[in-house]
Amino acid sequence: MGRLSVNLCGIELDNPLIPASGSFGYGYEFAELYDINMLGTFSFKGTTKEPRFGNPTPRIAEAPSGMLNSVGLQNPGVEKVIAEELPKLRNCFHKPVMANISGFSVEDYAYTAGLLDREEQVGWLEVNVSCPNVHGGGMAFGTDPAAAARVTEAVKKVTTKPLIIKLSPNVTDIAAIARACEEAGADGLSLINTLLSMRIDLKTRKPILANTMGGLSGPAVFPVALRMVYQVSQAVKIPVIGMGGVSTAEDVIEMMLAGATAVGIGAANLTDPYICRDIIHELPETMERYGIENLRDIIGGAKNG
Ligand code: FUM
Repeated sequence: MGRLSVNLCGIELDNPLIPASGSFGYGYEFAELYDINMLGTFSFKGTTKEPRFGNPTPRIAEAPSGMLNSVGLQNPGVEKVIAEELPKLRNCFHKPVMANISGFSVEDYAYTAGLLDREEQVGWLEVNVSCPNVHGGGMAFGTDPAAAARVTEAVKKVTTKPLIIKLSPNVTDIAAIARACEEAGADGLSLINTLLSMRIDLKTRKPILANTMGGLSGPAVFPVALRMVYQVSQAVKIPVIGMGGVSTAEDVIEMMLAGATAVGIGAANLTDPYICRDIIHELPETMERYGIENLRDIIGGAKNG
């Protein structure tokens, strides 16, 4: 066991870094830049039952210390992901990967999860009940404890792999949703997805995003994410993947002190595709600076008084 290693739902990770879904494609695109086997793992692009073209453009808007996206779950559909994307990944990534799944009904989620469950390289299923950019699904399941529990139960029935539910920050009581997922059988939780947000072009007086609203991510959301990771990890016993605005080795340590077992990196991959590689290199020296022998020892270590 190395100094950076952590255990996520029974699977050992060399380090806690996980490029977040939607920021790392299906992985092989980044393998052209560096050896992605140095990552803990990564969560691949949100995959749905049917192929999706995504939302109309513009889909991206800027914000101070962050960005808004309204991609709309663009992806080739689960059958093509299995037939075309995963074989390409197998050539360059030799660790278990996290399969990210979205849906528009409980049956959709279960269908997509059932197919991905059979894939040997899939280590965990990450079920996204928190996409703010689609109608009739996505976040609708993640803002109501009963609906989140229904999706969790349905997916749990079709998988033997650890099941992680990705939670929305666009709720008043994220701990209640987290508890509902845990009780319904979730093996882990990941949070936060993006914050529902909006920008307006002063010249045209129209919303910048064609979909009007989108999800805010980037350093601006880090303190909100940290607070929610802290609240959720106090409320449940299952491991939490903390994400939202993480962009430095110090942020990774802060997330773990708040209660995260592993740490997702999202928007930062889009501004610097080497960020995960660089953070992994910087972690040992940063740990020395703060007197940390092993990263796993600091999980949930932040306490007042
Ligand atoms: O619009 C999108 O594809 C984003 C998905 C998400 O934030 O979950």
